[in-house]
Amino acid sequence: MTVEPFDAVDVIRAKRDGGVVPEPALRWMVDAYTRGYVSDAQMASFAMAIFQRGMERDEIRVLTDAMIASGERMSFATLGKKTVDKHSTGGVGDKITLPLAPLVASFGVAVPQLSGRGLGHTGGTLDKLESIPGWRAALSNEEMFAQMQGDVGAVICAAGSGLAPADKKLYALRDVTGTVEAIPLIASSIMSKKIAEGTDALVLDVKFGSGAFMQDIDRARELARTMVALGTDSGVATTALLTDMNVPLGRAIGNANEVRESVEILAGGGPADVRELTVGLAREMLALAGQPDADVEAALDDGRAMDTWKAMIRAQDGDPDAALPVARETHVVTAPADGIVTRMDALPFGIAAWRLGAGRARAEDPVIFEAGIDLHAKPGDRVSAGQPLFTLSAADEARFPRAIEALEGAWELGDDAPTLGPIVRERITA
Ligand code: URA
Repeated sequence: MTVEPFDAVDVIRAKRDGGVVPEPALRWMVDAYTRGYVSDAQMASFAMAIFQRGMERDEIRVLTDAMIASGERMSFATLGKKTVDKHSTGGVGDKITLPLAPLVASFGVAVPQLSGRGLGHTGGTLDKLESIPGWRAALSNEEMFAQMQGDVGAVICAAGSGLAPADKKLYALRDVTGTVEAIPLIASSIMSKKIAEGTDALVLDVKFGSGAFMQDIDRARELARTMVALGTDSGVATTALLTDMNVPLGRAIGNANEVRESVEILAGGGPADVRELTVGLAREMLALAGQPDADVEAALDDGRAMDTWKAMIRAQDGDPDAALPVARETHVVTAPADGIVTRMDALPFGIAAWRLGAGRARAEDPVIFEAGIDLHAKPGDRVSAGQPLFTLSAADEARFPRAIEALEGAWELGDDAPTLGPIVRERITA
């Protein structure tokens, strides 16, 4: 029988009492948890100690490295192209990956976008794309590699179970133990997967505001700085943008409707905030790939990004021209008076879309592709009494009351136009 070199209770106590966990003990804790020797109860207690006490930079680096070491490391070194990935910390109406990956790939850069499914109020990129008839999220490493090497260049697919399995286990545990919103845990979780994936460069979209993990910009900045340092120290050129998630992004929240809005962006149109963020992130990605002067907007306006999108969807067995699912039941909320929309809180809109069926409460639940919310007005827009403000869509009328309840107090009409800042607030580099 192997003799374990550390005791989980000692490691938990060290962090509980505000100490720094020595590197060998921290590495062991992650490995022993992945092997099943350290129990869920012990790891949950350790995660809570980290949540309460924080971690020093070096501890976060070791934690990240230990999670990377728990699984496989991919490499795109033989691809013959630069690879650049993007990660968003998640928000409401955040469909940016859909137009962004083909847009960047249309400049000859490979984009390995390993994505996930939604849980709770934040939507998942794979759920959105699966509303396209035939589209397939699961690709083998060989298929992924071939798609990136060939003319398409961009891949959006499910992350294989081999990448950072320690994070997979720990993230599921954090989700049910109130330990998600800790900077060391979020940073190591995200960066372990991105570093293990083997991308040359990474742009992080770190969100702050009511629909984000980090409500205030100072905490989002700290998270961004931590992740940029982790990426840079591991040889991944990493930049972060701090972006506003107080208001839902764009006019569509759901799955099929978010695909529709993404296609509008790829056709050179779409809501201004979605275009601003897509263009801002594409510029950062292309700069890291050695193309700082790329004319990103031209590629949206002249159809190059759209051509890459169609090729990307076809390469994964989807039909980019097929009709997307449309909801059987709709409920329109109208303006009770004349006025200006002064506030629309992202979080309750995300929760309402989730309750309509766009998201899932348990990992094994299906999502309803056609469920969601379409916003007809956004903060700053003037509306008249009786004018539609937003339309809720669902497969079943019974979904409406709880969604409407989530939206109580979530928006406001007033007399004065609100002050609206840009979506991209700050840029964080190494
Ligand atoms: N996304 C992740 O992958 N991990 C986190 O901890 C938070 C968001």
